[in-house]
Amino acid sequence: MRSCPVLPVFPVLPVLLLLLLRLCSGTSFPSNIHIGGLFPSASHEYEVFRFALAQQQDIPKLVPQVDMVDTGSSFAMTYAFCSQFSKGVYAIMGLYDRRTVNMLMSFCGSLHVCFVTPSFPVTTNNQFVLQLRPPLQEPIMALLEAFGWSRFVYMYSPDSGLSVLQRILDTAAEKVWQVTSINLDSLTEAGFIKLLTDLDIKKEFQIIIDCELERLNSILNLIAAQKRNLKMYHYVFNNLGFLDLNLTEFQKLGGNVTGFQLVNRSDPTFEKIDRDWLEFDNKDLKLPRRKLRYTGALTYDGVTVMATAFQNLRRQRIDISRRGNAGECLANPPRPLGTGHRHPEGPAAGASGGSDGPCAVR
Ligand SMILES: *[C@@H]1O[C@H](CO)[C@@H](O)[C@H](O)[C@H]1NC(C)=O
Ligand SMILES: *[C@@H]1O[C@H](CO)[C@@H](O)[C@H](O)[C@H]1NC(C)=O
Ligand SMILES: *[C@@H]1O[C@H](CO)[C@@H](O)[C@H](O)[C@H]1NC(C)=O
Repeated sequence: MRSCPVLPVFPVLPVLLLLLLRLCSGTSFPSNIHIGGLFPSASHEYEVFRFALAQQQDIPKLVPQVDMVDTGSSFAMTYAFCSQFSKGVYAIMGLYDRRTVNMLMSFCGSLHVCFVTPSFPVTTNNQFVLQLRPPLQEPIMALLEAFGWSRFVYMYSPDSGLSVLQRILDTAAEKVWQVTSINLDSLTEAGFIKLLTDLDIKKEFQIIIDCELERLNSILNLIAAQKRNLKMYHYVFNNLGFLDLNLTEFQKLGGNVTGFQLVNRSDPTFEKIDRDWLEFDNKDLKLPRRKLRYTGALTYDGVTVMATAFQNLRRQRIDISRRGNAGECLANPPRPLGTGHRHPEGPAAGASGGSDGPCAVR
């Protein structure tokens, strides 16, 4: 089994520097920089955020100001955002979901606070939202073209999959493809198992699954538990963490599998970080810590980028004192743009993803 490397080519550091520069004018530089954090409790990304901050020893020191929030609740996110803003954070790192992403973007835009995120990418020209995850629309389209698929099933989570769905449906209309799209949120476990049977009867053997790692893992387990022979099948996982999946059981059924892998696990730099991560603060853990997943690796990179950006600003003696206060934030919140909508296509903000070219795997 092989995976295709997807090379992120996005200039996060220059973008962040530019943004931070815009906030500035003056002289003295704080030796502690408060960085906000908005994470669901016990999330992998939060743990890695703590780990990455602990690894940063240089001045200015990044001091976390974290809230554990339900990232699907606009109310909780607004409250936590404004409370962190009032404590003087210079940037916030965190996660969102489709119900809160618009609200976050409008706050960041109007208060000029950077939000750095390993969450699924959305199409936006909001320059205050720095998305660490490259979008997969283009790589998946290139893959479909290389495989010559014109009849397939696209299973997606509406969190990350809507923009890809849009792209697929547009192309399907143009090229007269037969696409069956399935919203995973609309299915119960029993419904999903029935769906697998239906697809088998209809000989729908080409399947794309687009969702976050945890869900993908449980879906693969569900499929594996059916013990159906998958020799006729070809699955494509539209997710950047191919090697983060546990394919032990799934593989035994003999289907073809293709996926994307963002992190080069054999790179010595990554290996060192992963080792340090496994050892970090692990005395009180009940279970051994799991390896760094790609979203964790992005979180780590995000912290490193922020630390470097603030070191550069300090070296250049740029005053980063911030205007505005929390009263402004809570009393006069920017109007959320509504939730759950598809994001209009437009120029991606400083990020683009590309694949090394598709590779078939077995
Ligand atoms: C699986 O992959 C192999 C090698 O690329 C290919 O020959 C075969 O046709 C594929 N099978 C299916 C069902 O896609
Ligand atoms: C993967 O799943 C199999 C079967 O569920 C399990 O035995 C194995 O320990 C898992 N591997 C990892 C690395 O989690
Ligand atoms: C991954 O890293 C190893 C070691 O640095 C390197 O030899 C290999 O070419 C890299 N793989 C990719 C796909 O970049």
